[in-house]
Amino acid sequence: MPVVSGSSGSDVAAALAPLLGMQFVELESRRFPDGEGYVRVPSEAIEAVRSEPVVLVSNTYPDSGIVSTILLLEAIADVRKGDLANLKGEGEQYMDDVGRGVYLAVPYYGYSRQDKRFSSGEAISARVIAEILERGCDGIAILDLHEPAVLEGMDVPIEFVSAMPEIAELLQSEVDPDFVLSPDKGAIARASEVAGLIDCQFSYLEKTRIDAHTIEHTPKDLDVDGKVVAIVDDMISTGGTICRASDALRRQGATEVHAACTHGLFTGGAILRLASHVDGVHSTNSLPNPRAVVSAAPALARGLKRLME
Ligand code: R5P
Repeated sequence: MPVVSGSSGSDVAAALAPLLGMQFVELESRRFPDGEGYVRVPSEAIEAVRSEPVVLVSNTYPDSGIVSTILLLEAIADVRKGDLANLKGEGEQYMDDVGRGVYLAVPYYGYSRQDKRFSSGEAISARVIAEILERGCDGIAILDLHEPAVLEGMDVPIEFVSAMPEIAELLQSEVDPDFVLSPDKGAIARASEVAGLIDCQFSYLEKTRIDAHTIEHTPKDLDVDGKVVAIVDDMISTGGTICRASDALRRQGATEVHAACTHGLFTGGAILRLASHVDGVHSTNSLPNPRAVVSAAPALARGLKRLME
């Protein structure tokens, strides 16, 4: 029983396999000179991919990750159907159909923030991508999806899993916060879970996004004077949300401010920007990033076990 991955997600897949009592098998995945993707189930992986169940770990980020995920699911489906016919005449051309049994684990689900039609004429991107992916698998586990409601009523079961327990453990041992802050209403459930697990104070801010690089928080009195605070969010992109929240905390006397998130996108100089606003940044490895100190694998393992039961 294998956990397979292309190049995106291989670290998570390698850590996930032993948690599921499965074997990690890396599939072939590379780019043509023009940037288009190529994937293949190598001959030595065919037997493993035809066993049941198979878990594919793959991100839908960046855009090339979406294409790779679709192609990997398709390649796996052909191998499982026994359709191995190829122009070079390599190996057996046809085998028995071993049926379904493919589960997709998505550490970072790209396009998750386009989860509503904010203006007329827009695509609800988060839904569109899931509708394409569900055709090639029997269930999907997604780590800290921005807004799970967007994937209600899909044709395959979806397990929404969270790395907040692992993030709480890391914060407790490395930071020992007195106070956890959610930087906007959307992160309240996740951040309050962390505060509950650490058993410390909790509050949230109300955020208005003016544009991709500008956000504003409604002023609020926070009981943080002399305290160590951890800001917890599902993702950090430009870092603007965290930097503004940290400014508000410092103005109110917080002595130390840390940021923690599941998905460290860290776009356009975010690491540098954050360094001048917070004392530490802690992320999972759902995406490879320089602040990845928490494994995304245990949370995905929890969801996959439920899916495969
Ligand atoms: C949005 O609601 C998310 O939960 C994050 O707060 C947001 O995506 C962070 O973006 P940035 O780091 O660019 O402020």
